[in-house]
Amino acid sequence: MADWTDCLNFGISIAKQASETILVAYHQQKDVKLKSSSADLVTETDQRVEAILISAIRSKYPQHRFIGEESVAAGEHLELTDCPTWIIDPIDGTVNFVHRFPFVAVSIAFTVNKQTEFGIVYSCVEDKLFHAQRGRGAFLNGDPLRASGQQDISRCVVVTEIGAERDDLALSTMTSNIFRLLKLPVHGVRALGTAAVDMCQVATGGADAYYHIGMHCWDIAASAIIVQEAGGVVMDTDGSAFDMMSRRVIAASSSAVANHIAQVIQAFPCRRDDKVSV
Ligand code: IPD
Repeated sequence: MADWTDCLNFGISIAKQASETILVAYHQQKDVKLKSSSADLVTETDQRVEAILISAIRSKYPQHRFIGEESVAAGEHLELTDCPTWIIDPIDGTVNFVHRFPFVAVSIAFTVNKQTEFGIVYSCVEDKLFHAQRGRGAFLNGDPLRASGQQDISRCVVVTEIGAERDDLALSTMTSNIFRLLKLPVHGVRALGTAAVDMCQVATGGADAYYHIGMHCWDIAASAIIVQEAGGVVMDTDGSAFDMMSRRVIAASSSAVANHIAQVIQAFPCRRDDKVSV
């Protein structure tokens, strides 16, 4: 089995460097532009950080490929192939970044033969570095992570996001999903504004589940392996196998909780990430 530890260590070092750029800009005035909706924002820092990350990786690994949020937004074709591929969200939580709401992360996943080999989520303001490598566990600032193992939905804290989709069907589906979960009841519903950091809460055991419809592969590719390596379960919201391109995900402390959420929530239609450029 190939060992991708050198790539992982390089990814961690450049995520830390990227965070220095993000933290300087975090306190400054931002020039904000809209993408797909009034809640889908981009700043010059998102674009600059992605360009810095890709250029650093490309000079060390010239054969590797990339799927980057801002490159795709700029029109680049999104295709996950069998080649070693870095999936990058330079700032997950751009709305938080713009408002200085302190959950902002660099998210980097690395796939080979379409399988995720490692994931890195660096929550910059919190200075929390989550990472996991396939078969080698998940870690927060070097300490091992373990999901809660909770089996009973009525004892769960569930994290979700409203996201950037704001049409009537998306909004009514998302709000009625929250309503149905609260009626089960669950202990609580939370949202931090970054899919990557939300999902890592399941890996820490601080939350028992996370679900989201409408996010993109770069938001959750890294945190999915972090949850799995912490002993959690990741699946599609329809109960089928996790597919990072489907724009639907459940991450949970156990199969029982994941399946229960899959039965309770509904999805609204989203075009797959690999079917269209955003
Ligand atoms: C967004 C965040 C947010 C989620 C959106 C994503 P971005 O990513 O992860 O929590 O609800 O669906 O698009 O745009 O800040 O990288």
